Amino acid sequence: MRLSIIGTGYVGLVTGACFAKLGHNVICVDIDAEKVKKIKAGVSPIYEDGLEDLLRVYKDNITATTEYATALKNSDVTFLCVGTPPLKNGGIDLRFIKESVQQIGTELKDLNRWHLLVVKSTVLPGTTQQIILPLLEQYARKKVGTDLGLAMNPEFLKEGVAIKDFLEPDRIVIGCFDEKSRTTLRELYRGFTCPLVETTLSTAEMIKYASNAFLATKISFINEIGNLCKHLKIDAYDVATGMGLDKRIDRAFLDSGIGWGGSCFPKDVNALIAWASEIKEPVHILESTRKVNNDQPSRLVKILKKYIPSLKDTTIGILGLAFKPDTDDVRDSRAIPIVQELLKNKAHVKAYDPQAMENFKKLYPTIEYCSSARDVLSSDAILITTKWKEFATLDFQGKIVIDGRRLEQAKSAKIYEGVCW
Ligand SMILES: NC(=O)c1ccc[n+]([C@@H]2O[C@H](COP(=O)([O-])OP(=O)(O)OC[C@H]3O[C@@H](n4cnc5c(N)ncnc54)[C@H](O)[C@@H]3O)[C@@H](O)[C@H]2O)c1
Repeated sequence: MRLSIIGTGYVGLVTGACFAKLGHNVICVDIDAEKVKKIKAGVSPIYEDGLEDLLRVYKDNITATTEYATALKNSDVTFLCVGTPPLKNGGIDLRFIKESVQQIGTELKDLNRWHLLVVKSTVLPGTTQQIILPLLEQYARKKVGTDLGLAMNPEFLKEGVAIKDFLEPDRIVIGCFDEKSRTTLRELYRGFTCPLVETTLSTAEMIKYASNAFLATKISFINEIGNLCKHLKIDAYDVATGMGLDKRIDRAFLDSGIGWGGSCFPKDVNALIAWASEIKEPVHILESTRKVNNDQPSRLVKILKKYIPSLKDTTIGILGLAFKPDTDDVRDSRAIPIVQELLKNKAHVKAYDPQAMENFKKLYPTIEYCSSARDVLSSDAILITTKWKEFATLDFQGKIVIDGRRLEQAKSAKIYEGVCW
């Protein structure tokens, strides 16, 4: 099929590159001319394992442009993958969605054929039907359901393993406004062997939010259990193993630590809470999920202070700045509140991350960035904030290590303490 992808961030570019691999003709659109230039040159503007290889190998199937007209004229299906960043009040900013839909509509106005718009960005239940649909009809001067198709196809990929997640998903959810959109998406996803959940627009939107909120809740739950375990020196990881063998529970997302971050969980949990408040529906579980997560990072610093009561003028090493390993994404990384608290305590912060230092520098330009993980080890104490594989090769002997991510090798340190185990 001929596809256009609007927005070439983690979701858009992975979607585009994977569809190119599957033999489709893909045109990516982004307002960021630098990104477009890179993609055209076969260079990935983001760090995601295997993405650049796909861009290079399947270069004949994928191109990029800043021009909506070029993309819309040469495609039959458009995936909307722009960001939906958080607002201060917890809701999501639909500015990029609206700008983009207006441009898509404007281009579709003069096209004399049916075109399908698929919303892949994470939007609150009701958004596709109540906001995107009327905007599209207004700018395209066409009717959705007859002249145009509309669908909602949430993305569940995990950064770091995004290509694998896209190509081998657990399920594909397609919420469709009309039958033609449904048959078109069925055809597009024909080669996939996972279950295809066919549903309504708002159900698809809710499946995405409910999934992320549940996973965030699972982590906060095990963190709370871990905090309890620590009092009796119970190993929370043994507890997780014992629980996880129960098929109804499963072991995934039961690694206790300093909590969840990234571009999705915090934003999605906050957005659900904000929406619930708007419609005056109490969401006690979600609020507690968020509260546990907000409190968890400061526990690491609290433990550190047991060993070094005054952090003033000490050098504290931070291993890991990305919100999780195998990504350069620092959005809502748990390293952020920890660095913040260390700086508040007037400590000198020395940090290393294999991929995320450039992004972290934009937030904290003045802390010291090391050229290797080993350089961090000369600090007065070391905090482990992201579980990168390469940290397992470090020699922690003689060091003070407070671990937020359960790095087994760090247990050889002179003083070792985990945040909640
Ligand atoms: N990152 C993830 O792991 C992930 C997973 C599932 C779902 N999502 C959701 O997918 C959406 C995209 O997330 P992301 O992480 O890829 O975002 P991102 O911020 O990495 O990328 C968004 C891209 O859209 C571009 N853009 C903004 N306005 C545009 C416009 N008018 N026209 C064309 N391009 C425009 C930006 O320049 C940027 O390149 C969000 O709603 C997010 O919640 C993200």
